[in-house]
Amino acid sequence: MMILFNKTILPGSTIGIVGGGQLGRMLALAAKAQGFRIAVLEPASDSPCGQVADVEVIGAYDDREAIKKLAEVSDVITYEFENIDAETLRWICDQAYVPQGPDLLAITQDRIKEKAAIREAGVETAPYEVIESAEDLIFKMNKIGYPAVLKTARGGYDGKGQLVIKSEQDLAEGESLLNHGACVLEKWIRFEKEISVIVTRKPNGETAIFPVGENIHVENILHQTIVPARISTGLQLRAVEKAQQIADSLGLVGILAVEMFVTEDGNIYINELAPRPHNSGHYSIEACVTSQFEQHIRAICNWPLGSTELLKPVVMVNLLGEHLDELYKEIPALTDWKIHLYGKKEAKIKRKMGHVTLLRDSVGEALAEVDASSIWNGVKEKIGG
Ligand SMILES: Nc1ncnc2c1ncn2[C@@H]1O[C@H](COP(=O)(O)OP(=O)(O)O)[C@@H](O)[C@H]1O
Ligand SMILES: [Mg+2]
Repeated sequence: MMILFNKTILPGSTIGIVGGGQLGRMLALAAKAQGFRIAVLEPASDSPCGQVADVEVIGAYDDREAIKKLAEVSDVITYEFENIDAETLRWICDQAYVPQGPDLLAITQDRIKEKAAIREAGVETAPYEVIESAEDLIFKMNKIGYPAVLKTARGGYDGKGQLVIKSEQDLAEGESLLNHGACVLEKWIRFEKEISVIVTRKPNGETAIFPVGENIHVENILHQTIVPARISTGLQLRAVEKAQQIADSLGLVGILAVEMFVTEDGNIYINELAPRPHNSGHYSIEACVTSQFEQHIRAICNWPLGSTELLKPVVMVNLLGEHLDELYKEIPALTDWKIHLYGKKEAKIKRKMGHVTLLRDSVGEALAEVDASSIWNGVKEKIGG
């Protein structure tokens, strides 16, 4: 079958999403505003995306029968997280319209391929080495130097599958990560700030880039995104340029989040890529003319990309399971906070249940208000420490 990669998908068509989490849900809500229908593939029914979809296909992400069913009811297929099976995606690409193609996912699923692709784009990563064995680790540790971080090449998220190596004593622990397969060993970057740049690109090369977000992590989970990021305009421009370079080099179609470290002396290192809407882009729902979710839909449907103009300074704060009790108490007073909840049934500790967005005249004002709230009481000590 001949598949065109610049087919325009019109309202009334069905967008199939592999993955039923909150990213799928917010993609679906954005798409529905424009008259699209949504089908979702997820192992369980009534998922965050399933709740707002027109069609739920129940099945594992690598179940070819199930993904075929999704393709049968969809005019275009996308995915909402990167740990779906790349081979299954490749297989369905041959028989359905998947404008993102199979390669981007395969690259970003594997830190070894991902880092190579970033460097190929001419952009800097932290110094790193590929590690295959315990002996390899000891040998290459000498090149990288302490402190460093060992990351499994595949399957990590929210800091899982990572070991910070501060001294020789930590090396033995590396073996348990290596049991899961190859790893990358990275130099520890003493960054001043973590930022992210979200870029969307169409098959014809048209690109739109969202304002740079400043990200605060707590225990490896994103806590806040602050926009505009509190870095110089010059640094922001350089960060945007790097995202553009990576998008062009990859021949990106759809959305890509680029996580970066900024050091005190003004160097920017790319940390990792995510080929999907990103938690650090949730602020765009209310703070930009076009949200990251709408923009991705526009890109894969071959619509003109929307304006990414920032309407107001903004702070986005995540709501984890442990924050919900306090949130519910405060809701009556929060009339100008935008509250998003993802419809997840069980509020587990550290599980992302929702987020809030505060648009204010300055990020300082928004941050002071968040600081004064009791919702994140437990978090404050962890940021300080
Ligand atoms: N080389 C590094 N130097 C300093 N901090 C790092 C490094 N790698 C990761 N981190 C910290 O750990 C967090 C999680 O690492 P990351 O590679 O983004 O994995 P994940 O897939 O879990 O998001 C980063 O946001 C950053 O705060
Ligand atoms: Mg990350």
